[in-house]
Amino acid sequence: MNLIKNLQWRYAVKKYSDELVSEDKIDQIIEAINLTASSCGIQPYRLFVITNAEIRQKLGEGSFNSQIYASSHLLVFAGFNTITNDYINTYVEMTERQRNLEVGALDILKNTLISHFSIQTPEQNATWSSKQAYIGLGTALIAAAELKVDATPMEGFNPELFDDILGLSEKGLHASVIMSLGYRDEENDYLASVPKARLPINEFSMKIH
Ligand SMILES: Cc1cc2nc3c(=O)[nH]c(=O)nc-3n(C[C@H](O)[C@H](O)[C@H](O)COP(=O)(O)O)c2cc1C
Repeated sequence: MNLIKNLQWRYAVKKYSDELVSEDKIDQIIEAINLTASSCGIQPYRLFVITNAEIRQKLGEGSFNSQIYASSHLLVFAGFNTITNDYINTYVEMTERQRNLEVGALDILKNTLISHFSIQTPEQNATWSSKQAYIGLGTALIAAAELKVDATPMEGFNPELFDDILGLSEKGLHASVIMSLGYRDEENDYLASVPKARLPINEFSMKIH
């Protein structure tokens, strides 16, 4: 499988070159993320793709991760703060349209989702949404590796600062996790030539027959 080779090739880049990733590749990575599975299938997070240098400089303030501003693109995965009935209604209606179903055909699903999410606290909904966002992060890492685009997943950022600068709270969102994209600076990134460290497969995984 070529994917294994690409996953061996990738690493969390610390220092990027000035080379920019083409919009075509960025669009493929975005499409891959949009195709990611999510629990209940309702995609409870949104993706922001940021190139604006000034905004990125501000987002990186106080963080040890210079990749926030010194890379080609920055992806911000922003989880929903809560799952509203309106959102479920709209999402289920969209699904009915896309599957050529009659209006109301998915009412049972809709009502199940509404009752499920309404008994969760907003905090539980927000935590759940962030978990879904992390699955998108995984897809993004894989998609980037397939395109031989470098990436760094990052939790080392100030979520409140991101929420503030990107106006996420007004949108009912919060910054869950971020990822930079670009091309490694082979000569100046100390990690570029470091062998990958991973557990032996039989220590990491157990087959139960
Ligand atoms: C959710 C998550 C958060 C991470 N946060 C950071 C970070 O803030 N800064 C950083 O340089 N690397 C970060 N990393 C990269 C990890 O340190 C890296 O993936 C790990 O050491 C394995 O190395 P590899 O990805 O190069 O194979 C993060 C990785 C993940 C999955």
